[in-house]
Amino acid sequence: MAAMKILVTGGAGFIGSNFIQHIIQEHSNWDITNLDKLTYAGNLENLKDVEKEHRYHFAKGDITDRELIDRLLSPGFDAIVNFAAESHVDRSILDPSPFIETNIKGTQVLLEGVRKYQIPRYIQVSTDEVYGSIDNGSFTEKSPLSPNSPYATSKAAADLLCLAYWKTYRTPIVITRCTNNFGPYQFPEKLIPLATTNALEGKPIPVYGDGLNIRDWLYVVDHCRALDSVIQKGTLGQIYNIGSGNERTNLELIHKLLELLGKPKDLIQFVTDRPGHDRRYSLDVTKISTELRWKPTYSFEESLAATVKWYIKSENWWRRIKSGEYTKYYQKMYHQR
Ligand code: NAD
Ligand code: TYD
Repeated sequence: MAAMKILVTGGAGFIGSNFIQHIIQEHSNWDITNLDKLTYAGNLENLKDVEKEHRYHFAKGDITDRELIDRLLSPGFDAIVNFAAESHVDRSILDPSPFIETNIKGTQVLLEGVRKYQIPRYIQVSTDEVYGSIDNGSFTEKSPLSPNSPYATSKAAADLLCLAYWKTYRTPIVITRCTNNFGPYQFPEKLIPLATTNALEGKPIPVYGDGLNIRDWLYVVDHCRALDSVIQKGTLGQIYNIGSGNERTNLELIHKLLELLGKPKDLIQFVTDRPGHDRRYSLDVTKISTELRWKPTYSFEESLAATVKWYIKSENWWRRIKSGEYTKYYQKMYHQR
């Protein structure tokens, strides 16, 4: 594989940091620059295994900062992978503003940079949530967008901007829409790390509504592998759904986590439902599996068990997070439920 110089944005977050580790391991001649604002979700500890690599560079900054993006992009890159986002639905319900700034404006600033410096490939890391909820069947890439939360709506707007730049200027974008990820370094506001670490602390696990909402869970490394394929082989102007078909109700998933942890079911505490809570997400992944020959390689059961083990072993990592600004968010969030 030819050498590549890549800009990753939001690489200090959950998926971005896993992606950087994956690329460093898999491609010995790829060079990565990570631009991250280091919001509450960005954590350079996630990258301690790669920080000494000469092929890895870090720049602190905001994707909405036009001058910074202009300076950063002028030497040129072979590809940009945009992970930078406000990513949590519950926070978007508390305050949509930063979602509009980063997810929509930030994407547009990056697209302008791609256009100006003729970057040959821009990958927009999007989500299944842009399609909204589906009771039966699965969404294809041609399904209409029908987002419900401020988060999902900001991601859908960014996707539409990417498509508009492709149609209007032939800006070389590819959009990926992935289902729920899990794995190491996920911020403990999301269901799996929140439930796991609360259980480890002997604290209640808040389950929204009846707990029967369904999500499709993909191990983060499989998502990184899919993005790697999209960088190398994805067709410009196209959208690729990414998912695993591991659909579980939230209650099924939490029962499994408690079983793996050897903790009692009475830690489950039903709380008021999330407003506008999507019932089920489900994607048809025929396109990426036929065109790019990608399919998930990790078994759900094994990767979930490995993830739980990682949280057990990485207590210092999550305790530091949970004792910081997080406490204020958690109290505010769960006060309302
Ligand atoms: P995350 O919240 O863990 O990380 C986001 C990162 O972006 C953080 O490092 C943060 O500091 C950085 N960031 C935020 N605003 C920024 C800005 N203005 N400029 C520069 N950096 C900024 O998110 P994640 O779960 O790793 O998700 C990454 C991407 O994948 C997001 O775009 C998200 O929409 C998408 N996605 C996530 C999932 C999932 O299950 N987590 C599923 C599908 C798609
Ligand atoms: P989350 O991890 O926030 O991902 P998303 O909403 O983007 O799919 O939530 C996953 C599911 O778990 C979702 O149906 C909401 C639910 N949930 C709870 O029941 N309790 C919680 O404390 C959290 C954070 C989520």
